[in-house]
Parts: sequence; structure tokens; C-alpha cells
Amino acid sequence: MPLTLTLNNVSKAYDDDKILSGLSYTFSAGETHILMGANGCGKSTLLRICALLEQPDSGSLAYSSGNGELQVGLELRRRITLVLPKVGVFNSTVFNNLAYGLKIRSIAKNERTERVIKMLKFIGLEHKKNRNALTLSSGEAQRLGIGRALVIEPDLLFLDEPTASIDNKNRELIEAIILQMKEAGHTTIIMTTHDSSQAERLSKRIILMKNGKLGAA
Ligand SMILES: Nc1ncnc2c1ncn2[C@@H]1O[C@H](COP(=O)(O)OP(=O)(O)O)[C@@H](O)[C@H]1O
Ligand SMILES: [Mg+2]
Repeated sequence: MPLTLTLNNVSKAYDDDKILSGLSYTFSAGETHILMGANGCGKSTLLRICALLEQPDSGSLAYSSGNGELQVGLELRRRITLVLPKVGVFNSTVFNNLAYGLKIRSIAKNERTERVIKMLKFIGLEHKKNRNALTLSSGEAQRLGIGRALVIEPDLLFLDEPTASIDNKNRELIEAIILQMKEAGHTTIIMTTHDSSQAERLSKRIILMKNGKLGAA
């Protein structure tokens, strides 16, 4: 079930540099939210905090689903994934890269194979399933990284500049993947981009980060 994420008065500084200053915002469940803002304004920092990889200095984050608020713990962490701008892949086949997250979640082999095959189709890498992932082009590797995040069916997905360093063809493929996910509405998506036309293609919910806070673009 997609999660709603509510930030209340979140602040973060590195040394004396205030990055987030009393930021409050609600990312509603099942929607695709696009975060924009100048280089260095704190978008990636915010995503790391929201993905529970870093702590804010003050303020709080609340994750909720239809059944109310969830406690922060392993259970919640397993429902959240962050995909970085440059995905690293494992030195193994494309298939195994996708299967890994399911294996560590103890998903039975039959279901695992079924879900991996479905994901290979979804990210357009069926024909590369037996290749070593290290031999993929950067655009294909990025699609694999997104597939690896999606195959576990996260309820809250963070995409940090998912198309920053890839060609147009792969950018289009990744945008199509994001739009299909948005359509399905099973996952809350929060992504950053510096490409305003991409933002407009993907969602009406465009948010601007400025002076350590979020507001309508
Ligand atoms: N771990 C860190 N230690 C110190 N400074 C950091 C750290 N992470 C980010 N910063 C600084 O915080 C600011 C915001 O960075 P970032 O969140 O990456 O911005 P954006 O993603 O919007 O470009 C930058 O000035 C960056 O140098
Ligand atoms: Mg960034």
C-alpha cells in the first residue's frame, strides 16, 4: 500500500551551512512528486533523510498508510527504496541483479523467477537477462537499477535524478516506466530532476526547493 510521508519542521545543517530549515510538507500516497531546485540546494540531502539513510538535526518524519502511522524499523525500511543518479550493479547476470532483493526477502524461487521475468519485460531488458550486468551501457544499467528497486514493490520510491547521465532513448524509456508506475498508483514516488520539461511530462505535482523549504513551483 503506498505511503504518505509527512515532514514536520525538519532542519539539517552541515557544519554551519543550513541546508534544510524548518521544512514541512506532506507527500500524499500514490502520487508522483517532482522536486526541483538549484544545484546544491539540498534535494539529495532531503531524499536521504526521507529514505531513512540520514537523520535530520531536528523535526520529525511520519510514514503512514491506510492503517495509520508506521513505526520506523526494518519493516518500514523494507518498504522504502532510494535509487541514486548513478546506479551500481552487481558483478553477476542481469537476472541475478533483479533476483537479489527478492532472495534476501526470502521470496520463494517460483515467485522470484516470475517477478524477475515480469520486471525484465517492464524495463526492456529481457534480451539481456543472461548478460553480466557490468557489460550494460550506462542507460541500460540505470534501467536495471530502477528495476531492482521496483521488483521489491516498494510503497515509497525515491528517484534522485534518474536520467541525469544517460542518452535520450534511455531517458524516454525511464520516463515511460515512471509514468506507468504513476498510472498504477501502488507506489508513492518522490523524484528530483533539473529538467523542467521532464518534470512537466511526468507530473502536475512539481515542488520547488528554495531557502531550505519546499513550496509550489
Ligand atoms: N555529507 C555531507 N557533508 C557535508 N556537506 C554536505 C554533505 N552532503 C551534502 N552536503 C552539502 O549540502 C548542500 C546540499 O547538497 P545536496 O543535497 O546534494 O544538493 P542537491 O541535491 O540539491 O544538488 C551542498 O552544499 C553540499 O555540498
Ligand atoms: Mg542532488
